[in-house]
Amino acid sequence: MMGNQPVIILREGTESTKGKTAQANNIMAAKAIADSVRSTLGPKGMDKMLVDSMGDIVITNDGATILKELDIEHPAAKMVVEISKTQDNECGDGTTSAVVIAGELLKRAESLIDQNVHPTVISNGYRLASQEAVKILKKAGFAVSPTDKKSLTLIASTAMTGKSVGGEKDILAAIAVDAVSCVAEKENGKYRADIDNIQVEKKHGGSVADTKLIKGIILDKERVHPRMPREVKGAKIALVDSALEIKKTEVEAKIQIRDPMQMQKFLDEEEQTLKEMVEKVKATGATVLMCEKGIDDLAQHYLAKAGIYAVRRVKRSDMEKLSKATGAKIVTNLDDLSKSELGAAAGVEEVKIADSEMTFVTGCKSPKAVSILIRGGTDHVVDEVERALHDALKVVAVAVEDGVAVPGGGATEIEVAIRLKDFGQSIGGREQLAIEAFAEALEIIPWTLAENAGMDSIDVLIELKNAHSKKNGKSFGVNVLENKVSDMLAAKVIEPLRVKRQAIESATEVASMILRIDDVVASRKLSPAERGPPGGGMGGMGGMPPGMM
Ligand SMILES: Nc1ncnc2c1ncn2[C@@H]1O[C@H](COP(=O)(O)OP(=O)(O)O)[C@@H](O)[C@H]1O
Ligand SMILES: [Mg+2]
Repeated sequence: MMGNQPVIILREGTESTKGKTAQANNIMAAKAIADSVRSTLGPKGMDKMLVDSMGDIVITNDGATILKELDIEHPAAKMVVEISKTQDNECGDGTTSAVVIAGELLKRAESLIDQNVHPTVISNGYRLASQEAVKILKKAGFAVSPTDKKSLTLIASTAMTGKSVGGEKDILAAIAVDAVSCVAEKENGKYRADIDNIQVEKKHGGSVADTKLIKGIILDKERVHPRMPREVKGAKIALVDSALEIKKTEVEAKIQIRDPMQMQKFLDEEEQTLKEMVEKVKATGATVLMCEKGIDDLAQHYLAKAGIYAVRRVKRSDMEKLSKATGAKIVTNLDDLSKSELGAAAGVEEVKIADSEMTFVTGCKSPKAVSILIRGGTDHVVDEVERALHDALKVVAVAVEDGVAVPGGGATEIEVAIRLKDFGQSIGGREQLAIEAFAEALEIIPWTLAENAGMDSIDVLIELKNAHSKKNGKSFGVNVLENKVSDMLAAKVIEPLRVKRQAIESATEVASMILRIDDVVASRKLSPAERGPPGGGMGGMGGMPPGMM
């Protein structure tokens, strides 16, 4: 052993890979990510069960969720994961598709590199193809009116097929469309639908079919005192973000009391202060008090006596929603509370859901305040319904904003692929090879949809291309529910155009970026001990790799 000792010239742990090896490694890592989610694509895709280091389980079919939960180390793989996040933020759907397309683009690029096509040429060809693909997509799209609830419901349904919400898909799709219609607003002739205005609360128990849309706000809180009214009609609501308690001193103070009378006086004083606080609320005419902080027992008693419905420790985000919905202003100092700061709602009511009490604030001043209460047998079901509903809400919002949809089931991808090949011919040269590779890469979507449904992918692709060469075949796709190639518009499978566009654009971007990398220098990961205390430490240069600066 002694004679074979290697000479170490790099700092231990520093890694550098160059040229073809770096490229091959990156492509491999990105492809691995795509392969890991491929089996979940489409309505017949499978779910994944992910168990984190704490033993918590997530069961999902959602690409973005799977990749978020995986603990991914490779930098190129991380770049691919990023696009699933972008896709999720922009469109809410199509996360798996984006990643799968990116993987396929890189796979095709790899074989072009083997044929000695330079990565920069491929990257350029891919960019040209992506730009052209967007143009083709626009032509393939058809208009969907923001008030066309029927089409919007189909879009919501398509986004949810394959998620384990199963039979309740129709109920959830209708809820999603109703909710988005409530929050959509027309600004300068353009629609805007911000789904952050839709509050989603979950409570396990009951069944998914019990999920409902509530025109108002839901608080997962009960009234603080059982003697308060359970329901207040025509509520006048005060929002306070300071505590209705006696302030505790910051420093430790001691009070010595020698006389029992003094003790009583001291307590009376406290009582008086709390009573005055409640009086201030009462004087404004408020019948409901929502407090962000605590409410003292005694104050609760006085509030109950005054017939005021009070809730304590309301989340800041909920306070803001309440303010928006009811028109109430959030007040810090009770002295500032007056009639003009109060908000209004037709009803505030404590409702028992499963085994806990919640507060429903309904009939708010702003009709834009809507909430969805998700129900379901177990926490895992409720969580997956939440994810499915998120996708549905987002795609409906996107469809309302853009007003354009395309047929799903791989129909659009095949159409784009066919047109792109014609475009490639018009470009010629080596770029043509890249454009054709790009077109073929898009075929991975119908291919995988068929594969996951147990159909013969080769046959399906041949049939699809055949159909698309005919006049009325542009919307033919893989009908995985009936195991045949058929018209996706007739099968009611439609998606917003933005989902397809974003998937293609971000897949192209990440593939080009990865292709252009030919050198990976990874400095050694420092252990927490080496990193030292956060924000401090003297040896600023200590951690630098040799030769840097
Ligand atoms: N009923 C259906 N028949 C065929 N394809 C469908 C159907 N519903 C959805 N799809 C297709 O499934 C794909 C989306 O699958 P999904 O698992 O949701 O992945 P993603 O994360 O990319 O949205 C889309 O290409 C969509 O057109
Ligand atoms: Mg989807």
